[in-house]
Formats: sequence, C-alpha cells, structure tokens
Amino acid sequence: RSRDTREVRDYIRTIVDFPKEGILFRDVTTLFADARGFRMAVDQLLNPYAGEQIDKVVGLEARGFILGGAVAHQLSVGFVPIRKKGKLPGAVLSQAYELEYGEAVVEIHDDALNPGDRVLIVDDLLATGGTAAAGIALCERLGAEVIGCAFVIDLPELGGRKLLEEMGHEVFALTAFE
Ligand code: PRP
Ligand code: HPA
Repeated sequence: RSRDTREVRDYIRTIVDFPKEGILFRDVTTLFADARGFRMAVDQLLNPYAGEQIDKVVGLEARGFILGGAVAHQLSVGFVPIRKKGKLPGAVLSQAYELEYGEAVVEIHDDALNPGDRVLIVDDLLATGGTAAAGIALCERLGAEVIGCAFVIDLPELGGRKLLEEMGHEVFALTAFE
C-alpha cells in the first residue's frame, strides 16, 4: 500500500463556468468533505502562528465559518462571525466595500471584540481582497489588532494579497491558482 501524498490543493475541485461563463470556480466543498484534507487545511492554516497569542478567530461568511470554527476550536479560542448585512441580531458595526458591480455590506456585533484583542481572520479564498479588507476594518474599528489573515486559496491575479499587504497586513495562503 502506498502512502497518501495528496496536498491540500489536490482536494480542491474546479468547476468550469460557475457562476457564469468563463469563470473557473475553485470549490472547497471537496476539501471540507474529506477528513484528511480538512484536517490538513486547518493544521496548515495555523502553522505560521505557532507561539503567537491569538484571542479570537474571526471568520468571513460563509465558507470562512466552516474553516474559522475549526481553527478556533483547534486554538481553544472563541469564534466571531462577520456576516452579510442584516443577518446578525444584535447591535452591529457595518462596513461597505466595492464589488465588480455595486457594493456589499458586512457586519460584526459591536461587542464581539475587545480593544487590544489579537485577531486572526480566516476565509477560504482571497480574490480582490474586498471582503477581507472590510473585515479587517470592522475588527480595527472595535480596537482589535489583526495579527494575520489566513486563506486556503489565493487568486493572486485578482490583487487581494497586494491590497492587504499595502494596508500593512500579513497574508498567508495554503495554495494559489492562476
Ligand atoms: C467568496 C469567498 C470570499 C470572497 C472573496 O465569498 O469565500 O469570502 O468571496 O472575494 P473578494 O476577495 O473579491 O472579496 P462569497 O462572496 O462568494 O460568499 P459566500 O461564502 O457566502 O458564498
Ligand atoms: N471560488 C470560490 N469563491 C470565489 C471564487 C472562486 O473561484 N472567485 C471569487 N470568489
């Protein structure tokens, strides 16, 4: 019997022409559904932060909840969701960001983080960086310090890493696709 040598990226499925023609959609459901793949992804996401104090994991809706929940559990710290507008029941801070057409709004509960909290932001994929930049802004508006942003997938051609790095943030991704 030969050893299983599959890497995280080997578990990611590509769907052609979703959600519209010409797009290669990187689908992490096949990674999350595989016990070995999911554990590898969660463990590897934490590698750069070994020995660092992290007070909260913040996950970005929706796939960032799946990963971020597992990462928070692994660290034995709390998990805080950043949700699309209108989903959180309590008092929120809102942050708008640009989409290809129009804008989107994400929200965080206004008591979800404390000033000085050291936060790790987690999501499945970094594209333009708009979602992550808005998430960082929300954390910082609550006085928290974003010590890193961790993604399974980076799509470097879409410029997200560059944007976040220009904002002074450290970006970590397990794999990149053209
Ligand atoms: C995707 C992805 C990231 C975001 C990245 O989520 O999971 O959250 O887009 O794009 P950006 O870097 O250009 O902002 P999506 O908006 O599809 O939401 P979902 O996870 O709720 O389906
Ligand atoms: N996969 C998942 N989410 C995305 C993608 C993708 O390829 N591009 C932008 N958001």
